[in-house]
Amino acid sequence: MIVLGIETSCDETAAAVVTGEREILANVIATQIAEHRPYGGVVPEIAARSHLAHIDAVLRRALADAGIGIGGIDAVAAAAGPGLIGGVLVGVTAAKAIAAARGIPFVAVNHLEGHALTPRLTDDVPFPYLLLLTSGGHCQSLIVRGPGDYTRLGTTIDDAAGEAFDKAAKMMGLAYPGGPQIERWAETGDARRFSLPRPMLHAPGFDFSFSGLKTAVRQALDRLPGDPTDADIADLSASFQAAVTETLCGRLAPAAAAFREACPAGRCLVVAGGVAANRTLRAALETLAAKSGLAFVAPPIKLCTDNGAMIAWAGVERLRAFGGDPLDFKPRPRWPLDAAAPKARGAGVKA
Ligand code: KG4
Ligand code: ZN
Repeated sequence: MIVLGIETSCDETAAAVVTGEREILANVIATQIAEHRPYGGVVPEIAARSHLAHIDAVLRRALADAGIGIGGIDAVAAAAGPGLIGGVLVGVTAAKAIAAARGIPFVAVNHLEGHALTPRLTDDVPFPYLLLLTSGGHCQSLIVRGPGDYTRLGTTIDDAAGEAFDKAAKMMGLAYPGGPQIERWAETGDARRFSLPRPMLHAPGFDFSFSGLKTAVRQALDRLPGDPTDADIADLSASFQAAVTETLCGRLAPAAAAFREACPAGRCLVVAGGVAANRTLRAALETLAAKSGLAFVAPPIKLCTDNGAMIAWAGVERLRAFGGDPLDFKPRPRWPLDAAAPKARGAGVKA
């Protein structure tokens, strides 16, 4: 089975070709980061127009890299939400058009499921596993039992971890996206210089919170005698990265215990989403997994941030489990992985 996957839900126009044997034949990503950088974040209207401008070339490149023509594709999958709806529509419409013209199945993939199933593409991780999904729009701990079968343990009650990285970076005058910038500055910084909170560390349940941490960064900057020096930025980046890492791990530890109890056969803790690219976080999660009696799996960094391969692979898994989706499938700007999960309570709750 050869599946073409299309991802346009945020600021990457991406297409990939993946086989049912977990081979990535092509993985093309046209990033819009430079177009959004002047605004310090993703501008939905710019994103939608840019996807439209680039989708054809990205699709052609992916098919050329894979060494096959459009006739070699058995199915086409697209991220059909959650995300910025203008962009999602571009990818979904392209996928539906190809499916209709070629008479092949169309698969509507939940972008989050793309991240969630990536460790099966890269490492063949068996179900069930515990997943920390941490990106610019989401921060959740989930039990992954199979395609379409998720139990959400915790979610953020305000900002996502990646959003906190991006906002903290913006306050420090660093470029968008903030995560990689903060990681780079943190390398030479002193993580003990600024004392930042670890929100909800001992609260009951498994939810996350990051908005207090963001406020603490603002206050730390305001307390400096003048404009921040390079040393200030490095130390604050290191302190912030340490606080996010400890918060994520602190909230995940009880979730790991709950997972072991709910799924005694479960063996792995998996991290996915853009923030999973962070090396300090990966190292801390590896330690946490070992303490919890779980193996740790993190996809290679270029498959952690948004890409078409994750959508193509989720397409493979969904086709096997459920077959394709109707061509009148409506894209969903909000689309929780676990529809039965109780609504989280908080200021800016994410799905
Ligand atoms: O999964 P993703 O590419 O897009 C979403 O679905 O949101 O995640 C993007 C997020 C951004 O907030 C970015 O700052 C963060 O992932 N990120 C990082 C790193 N690389 C990307 N955060 C921390 N450290 C990194 N190295
Ligand atoms: Zn993503």
